[in-house]
Amino acid sequence: MEVCGEIVWYTGGMDDAKEEIRARLPVEDVVGRYIELKRAGRSLKGRSPWGVDKTPSFMVSPDKGIWHDFSANKGGDIFAFVMEVEGISFREALEKLAVQAGVELSKYGGGDKKVAERKRRMKEALELSCKYYQFCLTKNEKVCRYVFEKRNMTKGTVTNFRIGYAPNTGRALVDFLKKRGYTTQEMEAAGLLNRFGGDLFRGRMMVPFIDIAGVIGYTARILEQGEPKYLNTPETLLFNKGRFVFGLAAAKEAIRQENFVVIVEGNMDVISSHQAGVRQAVATSGTAMTENHLKILSRLTPDVRLAYDGDAAGVKATERAIMMAGDLGVNLSVISDYHGAKDPDELIQKSEKLWQEAVRNYRPAVDWLLDKYEENLDLSSGVGKREYSDIAMKLLKHVSDAVERKHYEKQIARKLDCDVEDLHAKKLSDPVPKRYKEIDVEKGSDLLAGVRDNLQAIVAYGGVTEIKGVELPEDEAKLAELEMVFEVRYKDWPKEMLEKEARELLARYKTEMARREVEMLNVELAQAEEAGDEEKQEEILRKIMVLKR
Ligand code: UTP
Ligand code: MN
Repeated sequence: MEVCGEIVWYTGGMDDAKEEIRARLPVEDVVGRYIELKRAGRSLKGRSPWGVDKTPSFMVSPDKGIWHDFSANKGGDIFAFVMEVEGISFREALEKLAVQAGVELSKYGGGDKKVAERKRRMKEALELSCKYYQFCLTKNEKVCRYVFEKRNMTKGTVTNFRIGYAPNTGRALVDFLKKRGYTTQEMEAAGLLNRFGGDLFRGRMMVPFIDIAGVIGYTARILEQGEPKYLNTPETLLFNKGRFVFGLAAAKEAIRQENFVVIVEGNMDVISSHQAGVRQAVATSGTAMTENHLKILSRLTPDVRLAYDGDAAGVKATERAIMMAGDLGVNLSVISDYHGAKDPDELIQKSEKLWQEAVRNYRPAVDWLLDKYEENLDLSSGVGKREYSDIAMKLLKHVSDAVERKHYEKQIARKLDCDVEDLHAKKLSDPVPKRYKEIDVEKGSDLLAGVRDNLQAIVAYGGVTEIKGVELPEDEAKLAELEMVFEVRYKDWPKEMLEKEARELLARYKTEMARREVEMLNVELAQAEEAGDEEKQEEILRKIMVLKR
């Protein structure tokens, strides 16, 4: 389900600007601002900024001007790095790096008018697609049952959030938009197509991403079990997940009035929360919170309440938020009492009132984290005390207000039966770098990307001629990255082993792709059954049989 890739809108002039910036900024300097790099032969090594690895598995090749993260299966050039690590769009990365490189972007301009026109067409196509999906919802009984009964949405909610349904015939939306004069390229740019030029979204409940400009993309939920549960619009000129705040258009007014915002994990939590009368709820979509998200919210209110899970991921997300909040003057707190429900949506299904109370029953994030640390350590032992003081003091480095910090230091000293001076005297190894941000390890997509990268690396650089049917990327930066993957992983492998490895990788890749395809087809099958279309059923069954073989 790879629908990523850089947007290639910056024709002519902007490509030159890109090249000029690339030539002026060594990749190791750009990356080195975020990660400590050490030399290792011709390359440089460091720790993944996505926090997945304990040992250095992030590599930079100064010769090739690229980087690759072997633990998160990401890679690319300087622009891709800044986009990923900062959670910003290509355009913003370009502007940022242009400043660093001393390149005057306006000299290369000329494309701005064209871009504006493209954006306008994309918006129109998206708006139409949304109306189309809304219409399809009303025509499909099964989906209506899912939306109104299983998810308990009211008519008002469905209308306000513009919930829809994408038919699973494969080309329903494409045909619809084509008839209305939209080109394949425009649909593609809007993020509506899959790799084969058909509908990206099939047989899913459609939840549009809406900002002030209107519909800019979708998150689409599978109706039954299956992977991925949610399919999101890829990055486009309009949709940038590092910046988009789901529900903000609907929540803004309430946030201003009540002067607080609640950040929940899931988009469906936002929808339920609004329906339950807590209209200050928003979420980040398909990615962890970035500094951009927090910045946008901090302009509306300083009172930011996180309603994440209390599991390890929730702790990490809260720590990260504290690191980002320091500079922005935001008061972070945590809502954590879900009365045993797994997320706000589940709690709301039990009782709207409990959720309304929960958002007013919050604790400062630092207090909450300190409690979490304590839960996991034995503070009656010396080792436990040391570990507790280690992480607690690391956390406090990010509390910028001196008075507030002192308050916590005293509290910690009391708890550990030591002096604040002892805490200060601690040598904290490996402090979290200021700019460290752990973002966007997208659920489920990494492994397949890793398999694909390894396979393509062997086919492109291993002299393996026997393996057929593997498409290679054309993008030069990607090829350079694959070359590095090859050098690191497979350099000294004998030919037979490479061939064996490639066969295995190809098999794994195909199995996984087939599994996803079968899941899609099963949804189609159920619909064909419902519609009593026997011909269609047979056709789908045949396809499934082929895939299962
Ligand atoms: P959850 O799996 O907790 O979603 O993922 P949820 O909102 O509770 O979903 P329901 O109630 O089962 O429908 C939380 C968020 O993570 C992202 C989505 O933004 C989701 O809202 N996510 C999850 C994805 O982007 N893709 C996925 O496959 C799963
Ligand atoms: Mn849920």
